[in-house]
Amino acid sequence: MKPEVTATEYRRPQIVLTKSLKHPNAYTKALDGEFREFAFNEERGPENRGRWRSDIFGVKSEHPVDLEIGTGNGVHFQHHSLGKPERCLVGVELKYKPLIQTIRGALKKGARNARIVRYHAFNLDLLFEAGELNDVYIHFPDPWTTPRKPKNRILNPRMLDLFFDLQRPGAKLDFKTDSLEAYRWSMENVRQCKYKIEFETEDLHASPLASENVVTQFERIFLRQGMKINFVRLRKP
Ligand SMILES: C[S@@+](CC[C@H](N)C(=O)[O-])C[C@H]1O[C@@H](n2cnc3c(N)ncnc32)[C@H](O)[C@@H]1O
Repeated sequence: MKPEVTATEYRRPQIVLTKSLKHPNAYTKALDGEFREFAFNEERGPENRGRWRSDIFGVKSEHPVDLEIGTGNGVHFQHHSLGKPERCLVGVELKYKPLIQTIRGALKKGARNARIVRYHAFNLDLLFEAGELNDVYIHFPDPWTTPRKPKNRILNPRMLDLFFDLQRPGAKLDFKTDSLEAYRWSMENVRQCKYKIEFETEDLHASPLASENVVTQFERIFLRQGMKINFVRLRKP
């Protein structure tokens, strides 16, 4: 059953359906063609809600299923799916090129525990039901500092509540960003939410977690520019 949302509650972001694109290209075609078994468009993705373990991955109910939002070119996605074959991973990505790069790279290297969906992260409740997810990774989402529209930032109060509901007890949520402004804004929300803050730093690479960190494509660019990486790890009690 899909959850009902009324207009007064929350206005959902709308995206153009892949089938309605005026100018399909190699990436949009690959989503419903070559990678159809492992990649889902906006219409097929929600059909997996509540069925990721049983029907999509074919694993037991206690098997961990993690989520990465905004996979980019897939550096972390591939590292995670290949390095942790005992877990499953779902990526959510809005843009076609990074979506295909992500899943193509993972499959090419042999991962079979990974899937990806073209979807808007703010509509995650249409993709997953409560308690369907384990760990969540959010790396360098748009900080919405130009234009300054903080309500579009992902760690807003509504999304924090949503992640909390979708995750299983004991699961973690990792968030990193180059934007100190977006980070401090997010942390104000985090301090009021139900998660426990396990670790926070405004300089990840000078912190004890630096050795376990996987440097993503965007992170590499920011590091080259001499920027510090802000990071928080949340834990659902
Ligand atoms: C700055 S890039 C970071 C990519 C990657 N995580 C990294 O660290 O290299 C942000 C990514 O998030 C995706 N994205 C932006 N808004 C999104 C949304 N609402 N839902 C899902 N993905 C989104 C973009 O298409 C882009 O690939």
